[in-house]
Amino acid sequence: MSCFLCNSSVGKKLVMSVSGCFLVLFILFHMSMNLTAIISPAGYNTICEFLGANWYALAGTAVLAAGVLVHILYALVLTLNNYRARGSQRYAVTVQEPGVAWSSKNMLVLGFVVLAGLAIHLIHFWSKMQLVELLGGHVNALGFGPADGAALIAHTFSKWYNVLIYLVWLAALWFHLTHGVWSMFQTVGWANDTWYPRLKCLANVVATLVFLGFAAVVVVYFAKNCCCTCC
Ligand code: HEM
Repeated sequence: MSCFLCNSSVGKKLVMSVSGCFLVLFILFHMSMNLTAIISPAGYNTICEFLGANWYALAGTAVLAAGVLVHILYALVLTLNNYRARGSQRYAVTVQEPGVAWSSKNMLVLGFVVLAGLAIHLIHFWSKMQLVELLGGHVNALGFGPADGAALIAHTFSKWYNVLIYLVWLAALWFHLTHGVWSMFQTVGWANDTWYPRLKCLANVVATLVFLGFAAVVVVYFAKNCCCTCC
């Protein structure tokens, strides 16, 4: 079993598919949770309090980190294998194949952009919330309580350059998900002639929902801050 998942190309793709599915589920959960910050900042902070440095939240963080790590490692190995397998044919294809989306050929680059954005994001939020609580602190470097997610969101998106960074990051995530979600189904053999266009459409819908859900928080908090400073 371990050989199948480590050595065969199908096994590796299966690991990418399962870890990707897990990460998409987390992203959908995280996005839904964040939307609460628009409707009720106090309600959002209650959720942040619940998901602080408790054992279950820490266990969730550990599993999530493992999922991200596995997904990245297998992506690197698969890309390296594909690169080696093409050998001298590497430079032979110069004509763009019809129907091959730009995102499908740039998944690794898009993955790196998503990863860089995630690193910035964890510095902005996780290091000032769960990590502070974990280290026994009662306020973070900005003077907010570690469960005051709403204040941290307001502070982060009061700066135009953070708004820009997050929107670029979310756009890269959109491209990554449009191919990734479809590819996930294809690996498990669901993309036959009938289902191919349906699953492509589903992948676009999921990616767009994720983009709009996260971007709504960024834009609404930026607009709120603009209104507060202007009025
Ligand atoms: C508007 C956009 C976003 C906002 C406002 C936001 C907000 C937050 C907040 C407040 C936390 C800290 C939770 C805590 O430590 O208690 C957090 C953690 C995190 N966020 Fe986001 N997030 C956004 C977008 C994203 C996206 C697009 C991703 C993934 C691609 C993501 C992945 C994560 C991860 C992995 C953590 C750490 C979770 C953990 O500690 O278990 N976030 N986010």
